[in-house]
Amino acid sequence: MMRYSRIIGTGGYLPDDIRTNDFISQTVDTSDSWIFERTGIKSRRIAADHETASSMAEVAARQALEMSECLADEIDLIIVATGTPDLTYPSTACLLQKRLGIKNCAAFDIQAACSGSIFGLSIADQYIKTGAAKKVLIVGTEICSRIVDWTDRTTCILFGDGAGAIVLEASDQAGILSTHIHSDGEFEDLLYCPNLYINTEQHAPYISMRGNEVFKVAVNTLGRIVDETLDANNMDRSEVDWLVPHQANIRIIAATAKKLKMSMDHVVVTLESQGNTSSASVLLAFNEAVRDGRIQRGQVVLLEAFGAGFTWGSALIKF
Ligand SMILES: CC(C)(COP(=O)(O)OP(=O)(O)OC[C@H]1O[C@@H](n2cnc3c(N)ncnc32)[C@H](O)[C@@H]1OP(=O)(O)O)[C@@H](O)C(=O)NCCC(=O)NCCS
Repeated sequence: MMRYSRIIGTGGYLPDDIRTNDFISQTVDTSDSWIFERTGIKSRRIAADHETASSMAEVAARQALEMSECLADEIDLIIVATGTPDLTYPSTACLLQKRLGIKNCAAFDIQAACSGSIFGLSIADQYIKTGAAKKVLIVGTEICSRIVDWTDRTTCILFGDGAGAIVLEASDQAGILSTHIHSDGEFEDLLYCPNLYINTEQHAPYISMRGNEVFKVAVNTLGRIVDETLDANNMDRSEVDWLVPHQANIRIIAATAKKLKMSMDHVVVTLESQGNTSSASVLLAFNEAVRDGRIQRGQVVLLEAFGAGFTWGSALIKF
């Protein structure tokens, strides 16, 4: 019998503080209309000083565990995707494990920038399919506001904070149909964020991006991954009920929807009020659409993301 990874719980967390475009326009030379027209973003959430990637991950994870009706101790693998870990080590996944009171399971972080949660789903799916794990918790959590240069109008308008979570369980019912992940290290210069511990005089520890060039590669690459995913499943684009994309720019999302010949009514968009929450964005959007009843059991959902590296990937799911 085929063994699938079935989604049994989702969760999300957004900090309380809402930072609007108008607020940002008071400190850098930009405007609400420029930001909204070019990106689709109106506001983003900003974590409070006491919050961290692991504290936000805990809230999202507890929600996902509650929906899945499984005890924390039943989880046998924790994967956290983050580019903004609390510490270099222990991993944010280990800090989350402690917060949840889980003993005796493996916990580790992965770093694939904005594609992190798709990479996490892919890894988890392999563990479940091989029988190495039965219940896996995957969390994408980011405090982008701490690695953004708030004087740089080309980047500070884009990012936000938050965490999304998912619980997968081994099942004979589908499940994740396939995952596809890729990386190309050639593109470091277009999008990167130096560490705090390297020479900060030469390399400010903030996100640096050549937005226009990233944009073009993202649109092309995401178009290709749609084809790759449908081909691998011998599926026509008309069979996909929902697109849950990484939330970087509404124009990138619209280009992927067009490729699928899908109306924007079937695309989950959270960008307007959340900005780009990096590895949290796909799981936050998925959680929102599951909880408000848009995504129903039995429907086919395409998740995709693109990020620094470059990294990109997709997951096709029968929910
Ligand atoms: C960042 C992004 C919104 C910029 O939009 P764009 O249409 O490409 O704009 P450009 O970078 O070409 O800049 C156009 C002009 O607007 C200016 N500009 C940049 N940011 C601005 C801002 N916040 N407000 C006003 N003007 C701004 C630029 O300086 C430039 O001015 P110039 O023509 O005088 O040189 C867009 O490129 C983007 O979303 N890129 C992809 C980002 C992404 O997906 N990143 C994450 C991947 S995970």
